Amino acid sequence: MIDYKEKIADIIAEAAEGLSADEIAGSIEVPTDEKMGDYAFPCFRLAKEYHKAPPLIAQDIAEKISSDGIFEKVESVNAYVNMFISREMFVSDLVRDVNEKGTDYAKSDMGKGKTVIVEFSSPNIAKPFHIGHIRSTVIGNSLYKIYDSLGYKTVRINHLGDYGTQFGKMICAYRHWGNEEDVKREPIKTLLGYYTRFHKEAEKDPALEQEARDTFTKLEHGEKEEVEIWKWFREESLKEFEKVYKMLGIEFDSYTGESFYSDKMPAVVDELKEKGLLEESQGAEIVDLEKYGLTPALITKSDGSSLYITRDIAAALYRKKTYDFDKCIYVVASQQNLHFKQWFKIVELMGYDWAKDCVHVPFGMVSMEENGEVVTLSTREGRVVFLEDVLNQAVEKTKEIIVEKNVVTDNVEETANQVGIGAVIFQELSNNRIKDYVFKWDKVLNFDGETGPYVQYTYARAESVLRKAGREAVSKAMESDGLAAKYISRDSGYELAKLIYSLPDVVVDAAAKYEPSIVTRHLTDIAQAFNKFYHDEYILVDNEEEKTAKLALVLASRTAIKNCLGLLGMEAPERM
Ligand code: ARG
Repeated sequence: MIDYKEKIADIIAEAAEGLSADEIAGSIEVPTDEKMGDYAFPCFRLAKEYHKAPPLIAQDIAEKISSDGIFEKVESVNAYVNMFISREMFVSDLVRDVNEKGTDYAKSDMGKGKTVIVEFSSPNIAKPFHIGHIRSTVIGNSLYKIYDSLGYKTVRINHLGDYGTQFGKMICAYRHWGNEEDVKREPIKTLLGYYTRFHKEAEKDPALEQEARDTFTKLEHGEKEEVEIWKWFREESLKEFEKVYKMLGIEFDSYTGESFYSDKMPAVVDELKEKGLLEESQGAEIVDLEKYGLTPALITKSDGSSLYITRDIAAALYRKKTYDFDKCIYVVASQQNLHFKQWFKIVELMGYDWAKDCVHVPFGMVSMEENGEVVTLSTREGRVVFLEDVLNQAVEKTKEIIVEKNVVTDNVEETANQVGIGAVIFQELSNNRIKDYVFKWDKVLNFDGETGPYVQYTYARAESVLRKAGREAVSKAMESDGLAAKYISRDSGYELAKLIYSLPDVVVDAAAKYEPSIVTRHLTDIAQAFNKFYHDEYILVDNEEEKTAKLALVLASRTAIKNCLGLLGMEAPERM
């Protein structure tokens, strides 16, 4: 595929001496108003050198380059050279390129030889995998797919919350009020019940808190009985988490959670001491971060037990040693901003320059609308919405809609799965991740808005056009050199082609900003442009050449949409 910006820069560099092609490429703009062309070059910078007013320079350059076959038209408007690319050339070139590359169209090898760790999901053992965790899970999975498609070596880590004082509470609660059968039957909901009860009882009887702390210390010192119960809780919980991951089509390369670092903590504490970073404070050990505008970080507690932050430092050191990462991304809620600032700073103070390669990717909170009321979610008070229930409900509700709308499908179950779960994923990834948002069913499952079902439906529509065209016509379109692109020179087809053309850049931008919603938005734009094209043009016309040209663009659109869906972690249903 021609890199148009680069090519134009070369053409201008030849016409206008004084600036290198690179400098020119850097100042070429893509006008927001398409009347100003596909690309524009501002001539202000040349004024000094040429001793000429910029509009005159623009006029001069426009005249010199206008005969180049790459352009349909070149105009000078004030100080700008506005360039309109030959639509025929552009569309044929694009269609050929996309249909050759297939659903990996936006792939690149920019990350070759570099390793990126994406840490995401990381739910807490014996606590529900609730709708709040879905954000980390879905955003993280998409970031993994995006980096993977850019050629980075990627490692997906689930930093399970399988350690910490809450296990002291859980074990205590189990001993006081628990029973084995209940846990086996319904592990997480039962354990959550114990946890909630613990907090209620501890309000009346503060001694329970001490008991829980002692229990955790025993666990940390490897006492057999405590370790056994903890292991059991962990196993039962993991089984439940894996059910959810399976529904979402998500996998991990490693489940090294917090407990994995328990034996690596003393070394971290020693190193901090050695490097003079640790201070005593009321029996506990802290790192003072006041100089950096941060509150002190508690590294060990007065009873000697370790903390969340210490485990994060141990994990970072371990990961650097094990994977030698170029970037380690943490997809974790913005409530933990301070936590990440603190320990990134500590790693830096320990003298590790790779601290700068650790990136916290925060996201906002999600609340849920239920019967017209917005509910915020809190594990402590037991007010949670289980992700598994949400996904099941999404599938059920989709099934109803499919039946009601007479959606064409060979397999209602499968389509409902793809669409229902896709709808939840899409909703998650459609807002800027940092924004708080309210989960509303009618918005998520709307087939007409900027939603998952809408985009998947567009994909299925393209598939249906291709089915109707027949295998022979499609393979002809697939192999066509695209030279009949003159038939799709109308605006809607051209706009569609331009959006597909910019997809690879969009993916790079999404990676740089750790923002899958950039891909989601672009996907919505492509889907809308495709529907406009579909509306504006007869595709299956009698003229063979014209039909082939249009089918080639339908193929390219379908491929680009599937590529995007894949990057978001969504399926592409053939019929709907
Ligand atoms: N388990 C934690 C939670 O649910 C998230 C872990 C985030 N990752 C980390 N490296 N601290 O809040």
